[in-house]
Amino acid sequence: MELNKAVRERRSIRLFLPDPVPRDSITRLVDLARWAPSWGNTQPWEIVVADGEKARELTEAFEAEGKKGTPPRPDLSIPQEFPEVHQQRYTGLGRELLTFMGIARGDKQARLQHYLNMYRFFGAPAVIYLLIDGALNEPYSCLDIGSVGTTLAYAAVQEGLGTIYLAAAMHFPDIIRRVLNIPEGKKVVIGLAVGYPHPTAPASLFRSSRVPVEEILRFA
Ligand SMILES: Cc1cc2nc3c(=O)[nH]c(=O)nc-3n(C[C@H](O)[C@H](O)[C@H](O)COP(=O)(O)O)c2cc1C
Repeated sequence: MELNKAVRERRSIRLFLPDPVPRDSITRLVDLARWAPSWGNTQPWEIVVADGEKARELTEAFEAEGKKGTPPRPDLSIPQEFPEVHQQRYTGLGRELLTFMGIARGDKQARLQHYLNMYRFFGAPAVIYLLIDGALNEPYSCLDIGSVGTTLAYAAVQEGLGTIYLAAAMHFPDIIRRVLNIPEGKKVVIGLAVGYPHPTAPASLFRSSRVPVEEILRFA
């Protein structure tokens, strides 16, 4: 598959089929993604996959926290505020996504359900967790995590799989460490849900917008 096609076809999937992803497929994604660049070739990523029973155990525990309204307690702080221009893009995404999914602004029940679906990893049969050692410099290692994570996402397209980066999947890292036997000294940076996209649901067909090149590019 051409790079151009993989980049254009990748999008965040918010409804997966329940079919399991063969471990061979996930291994192939990681085999390709390990060629991503990293600072000084440190390759700080550690990759742990939750699938089958482990994925089910995690979703149940996360959903229970979501239903109780427990505030997230991630290893890495999640931004709550943005400068105006970024805030507009953020709220714009929420508005466009919910409209596309047919969820009315005032429909509190449907919005809550969407939020809880996030804690069910949108039905994905597996989550690829990207971890770093707690002794690493956090901002710099996170550049490398983004590098390998996005390469994984493109590799998934090539395998006929869909993904979504899910901050929600790392809201309760103590649960992740317990269920996936991850030592205390490791930080859970992000989770990428992976699976076969639902073929027709709006939640798996939605395409987010982008600002035009002229707005982000300047030759000095
Ligand atoms: C670090 C990171 C965390 C994200 N966390 C979530 C999340 O918790 N829930 C969600 O619905 N989307 C999440 N996303 C997906 C973004 O909303 C999505 O990438 C963005 O809207 C662009 O759309 P696209 O991926 O379809 O191109 C996350 C993306 C990134 C990069």
